[in-house]
Amino acid sequence: MEVFTTSFNFHTFLAIRAVFLVFLLSFSLQHAASAAFLSNETDNLALLGFKSQITEDPSRVFVSWNDSVHFCQWTGVKCGLRHVRVIRLNLKGLRLAGTISDHLGNLSFLNSLDLAENAFHEKIPQQLSRLPRLQYLNLSFNYLTGEIPANLSHCVKLKSLVLDHNTLVGKIPYQVGSLTKLVNLYLRNNNLTGIIPGSIGNLTSLEKLHLSYNNLEGEVPVSLARLTKLRILGLSVNSLSGEFPPPLYNLSSLELISLSLNNFSGNLRSELGNYFPNLQILYLANCQFIGSIPSSLANASKLLELDFPVNNFTGNIPKGFGNLRNLLWLNVWNNHLGYGKHDDLDFVNSLTNCSSLQMLHFGGNQFGGTLPHSIGNLSSQLQRLLFFENRIGGNIPREISNLVNLNLLDIGSNNFIGSIPDSIGRLTNLGALNLVNNLLTGVIPFSIGNLTELVYLYLGLNRLEGNIPSTLGNCNQLLKLGFSENNLTGTIPQQLFALSSLTDIFASNNSLTGPLPVDIGNWNHLTYLDFSYNNLSGMIPQTLGKCLTLGEIYMKGNSLQGTIPNLEDLPDLQSLDLSLNNLSGPIPHFIANLTSLHYLNLSFNNLEGEVPVTGIFSNLSADVLSGNSKLCGGIQELHLQPCIYQKTRKKHVLALKRRNLNNQPAPQDRSKSAHFYPNISYEELRTATEYGMGSKVSVVGDMYSFGILILEIFTGRRPTDTLFQASSTLHHFVETALPEKVMEILDKTAFHGEMSKATCGEEYWGNIKKEQMECLVGILEIGVACSAESPRDRLTMTQVYSKLTLIREKFLQRGDGGHRLQVKALDLI
Ligand SMILES: *[C@@H]1O[C@H](CO)[C@@H](O)[C@H](O)[C@H]1NC(C)=O
Ligand SMILES: *[C@@H]1O[C@H](CO)[C@@H](O)[C@H](O)[C@H]1NC(C)=O
Ligand SMILES: *[C@@H]1O[C@H](CO)[C@@H](O)[C@H](O)[C@H]1NC(C)=O
Ligand SMILES: *[C@@H]1O[C@H](CO)[C@@H](O)[C@H](O)[C@H]1NC(C)=O
Ligand SMILES: *[C@@H]1O[C@H](CO)[C@@H](O)[C@H](O)[C@H]1NC(C)=O
Ligand SMILES: *[C@@H]1O[C@H](CO)[C@@H](O)[C@H](O)[C@H]1NC(C)=O
Ligand SMILES: *[C@@H]1O[C@H](CO)[C@@H](O)[C@H](O)[C@H]1NC(C)=O
Ligand SMILES: *[C@@H]1O[C@H](CO)[C@@H](O)[C@H](O)[C@H]1NC(C)=O
Ligand SMILES: *[C@@H]1O[C@H](CO)[C@@H](O)[C@H](O)[C@H]1NC(C)=O
Ligand SMILES: *[C@@H]1O[C@H](CO)[C@@H](O)[C@H](O)[C@H]1NC(C)=O
Ligand SMILES: *[C@@H]1O[C@H](CO)[C@@H](O)[C@H](O)[C@H]1NC(C)=O
Ligand SMILES: *[C@@H]1O[C@H](CO)[C@@H](O)[C@H](O)[C@H]1NC(C)=O
Repeated sequence: MEVFTTSFNFHTFLAIRAVFLVFLLSFSLQHAASAAFLSNETDNLALLGFKSQITEDPSRVFVSWNDSVHFCQWTGVKCGLRHVRVIRLNLKGLRLAGTISDHLGNLSFLNSLDLAENAFHEKIPQQLSRLPRLQYLNLSFNYLTGEIPANLSHCVKLKSLVLDHNTLVGKIPYQVGSLTKLVNLYLRNNNLTGIIPGSIGNLTSLEKLHLSYNNLEGEVPVSLARLTKLRILGLSVNSLSGEFPPPLYNLSSLELISLSLNNFSGNLRSELGNYFPNLQILYLANCQFIGSIPSSLANASKLLELDFPVNNFTGNIPKGFGNLRNLLWLNVWNNHLGYGKHDDLDFVNSLTNCSSLQMLHFGGNQFGGTLPHSIGNLSSQLQRLLFFENRIGGNIPREISNLVNLNLLDIGSNNFIGSIPDSIGRLTNLGALNLVNNLLTGVIPFSIGNLTELVYLYLGLNRLEGNIPSTLGNCNQLLKLGFSENNLTGTIPQQLFALSSLTDIFASNNSLTGPLPVDIGNWNHLTYLDFSYNNLSGMIPQTLGKCLTLGEIYMKGNSLQGTIPNLEDLPDLQSLDLSLNNLSGPIPHFIANLTSLHYLNLSFNNLEGEVPVTGIFSNLSADVLSGNSKLCGGIQELHLQPCIYQKTRKKHVLALKRRNLNNQPAPQDRSKSAHFYPNISYEELRTATEYGMGSKVSVVGDMYSFGILILEIFTGRRPTDTLFQASSTLHHFVETALPEKVMEILDKTAFHGEMSKATCGEEYWGNIKKEQMECLVGILEIGVACSAESPRDRLTMTQVYSKLTLIREKFLQRGDGGHRLQVKALDLI
């Protein structure tokens, strides 16, 4: 019985327990169900709240966000299977505009949020800090402003925090140090200020740290030495100071270090290369480093790129660099390297072992001696070889023509003697050849006509003699041709007048003879023409007036006769110097009507008759008409200052605003030396190797800069600076927005005056006329086409020119409203 009782009790117990368990189970099930119900409703509301703050949805993503479909099926939304809760929201690159709703903070199961490449503006909502499961947050390439919310530090599971390419301000919150799981921290291309917080040293999982293109200052914190997994460190374009940051010496994991354009100074440790066995890229441009380039770098055998321009390095390029078999890029432009001694260039011999070398730039230093014949044994992959502005003498070795892939050869401003080797004609890939300002003699070889890809040819300031070779007529890509200050004789070959691509001709101070043919009218892209101080004779052909783009004409000091041709259709003519010739007849009245004219000199001719009293002649100095004894009018009695006008090249000033790293020296006085280098931006030089595309420097290179420049000006965005995400993103950003959404990508600060009071939607740009919008699309399309990743897809200068001409006409026709915009656009054109 006792047993029974016991057993009864036991069974009762089991039964009660079972009932209780069932009850418990059903209770918790019910509870769970209602919790799930509540939460999935919350997600629904949160998503609708997010939708409600979208003002532009060009690809109509949000049509699918409606009641007839479960929210888990809405475009960009992904739910977890277990809880029917949103775990991922990905609306990348859909050109959405609006603000980021704080309702997103209610999506408490969210682990990935990607709103990159849209046009979200205003602040990052604090409420995102309520997403404890968030691992991936990418808000890059938007217009977000305000500070980085400090309480994002509550999202302790974050592995990627990607906020680059916005306009965030303020400091990097020190609380970021709580995000100890972070692997990627991208804050570059914002407007962040203050120091790099020491707490970043807490982020010991970090592999990529991008802080470039901000306004950060102070020293790199010592705590960074704890980031032992760090592979990529981008700090370029800030105001950081101190020595080469000592904590970095602890980080043997580093593959890329970019410190360019900061205020770092001091010596590099001689052991530098030994600390970084994995280093591939070292960018130290535009700092104030002194001392020698550490020869230990030769031990960092994985090195691909060494970029040290614009520092104060002394000594020489270490001979051990020949060990760097993978080296693609070596740039030491503008330092104090070399001793001016005969063996300075011995390092060239060792570099012949770097069989992948594509770019070698040692211009702007003090290298002396002669160029060794081994230059011809450098990598046949070499595309750019620059060593202008040194003290290198002797002949140009003919072996240089082994470098058949050369695209840019710049040896200007040295002491080279002898003649230009005939073998130069083998360098058929050359886009730019600069031999300016040397002591070269002899004739220009006929083989130059083999260089059919040439875009820039500068031979000025030498002692070249003989005729201009007629074969130059084969170089039908030529934009800029300079041979001023030589001893060239004979007539200008007829073939040259067929080159309608030419934009600039520098031919002053030679002994060229003969008349200018009527074919001069073929030069219909010409902006700059200088034939001063030659022996040209005959009439100036009327067809000169067909060169509609001409801005500057210098024909001073020849024997030209006849009347001044009609140039009244040249809308941009700024400078006209026909002084010291034998011109006769009256001063044509059209000159007074040339509103763009700023500099005029007609002195020392045989001009006669009355001087017009309007236009440029009404503040005019007597000097510019002196030596014309038959002129009459009150002018001669006046003693005004000469109105010498220096043309400022606005286009380039704009271009190089923030990247004064242009690897070329500034143009000197062009009328004198014609020493005017191709305008190849630092980024361009770099990106070409980044993609390993073997891009041509030449036109296509220049076109690339031009394209990026257009995109920069009109979007107010800058291209990026490191190896892994190059300026192609800017290109992509604009490309995807065109044509309908051009308003969203425009630089709203620059065009502030064009916005109407309304701050959203189509009224945002209410002051701009439809036609003007079309013009803008046109301009941006040019920018996109010129900055195509593959050089082959880029527009040619001629194509750009004709497109711009059309746009320009349209603008001029529709000159009403949108004034600032128009000024900006016309400025560029
Ligand atoms: C939420 O979940 C409940 C229970 O699974 C379901 O009945 C309801 O339809 C869901 N609501 C939404 C908006 O998903
Ligand atoms: C709701 O979304 C579905 C799925 O995308 C779409 O087919 C439907 O047309 C939408 N309904 C409305 C009223 O927009
Ligand atoms: C979601 O978040 C918003 C703003 O953060 C808040 O006002 C609202 O009450 C929340 N909604 C729900 C359903 O929790
Ligand atoms: C974030 O922090 C600020 C102050 O630091 C606080 O006022 C705010 O309530 C916090 N927001 C959330 C969502 O935690
Ligand atoms: C963030 O988004 C940008 C733009 O789409 C993308 O290029 C980048 O790779 C993303 N970053 C990370 C770390 O995923
Ligand atoms: C950084 O880590 C230390 C300990 O490792 C901790 O005391 C400190 O609070 C952390 N700092 C931040 C900002 O998280
Ligand atoms: C960035 O900051 C600088 C200086 O603080 C300021 O002049 C500039 O306008 C800011 N740019 C943006 C886009 O906020
Ligand atoms: C960095 O390296 C130095 C020796 O080079 C060592 O004394 C120091 O403790 C290291 N720091 C860290 C944080 O590892
Ligand atoms: C670097 O050299 C320039 C002149 O070439 C000089 O003006 C400057 O002071 C030098 N800077 C340092 C840090 O030595
Ligand atoms: C010119 O180029 C042709 C091939 O295009 C080549 O055969 C010839 O040798 C070159 N001439 C010179 C002088 O280099
Ligand atoms: C140019 O050639 C003439 C005659 O051949 C010579 O007298 C003159 O010195 C030369 N000028 C220069 C600058 O070489
Ligand atoms: C100059 O302009 C005035 C007024 O615009 C016009 O009357 C005159 O014909 C023009 N003269 C010439 C030579 O084009």
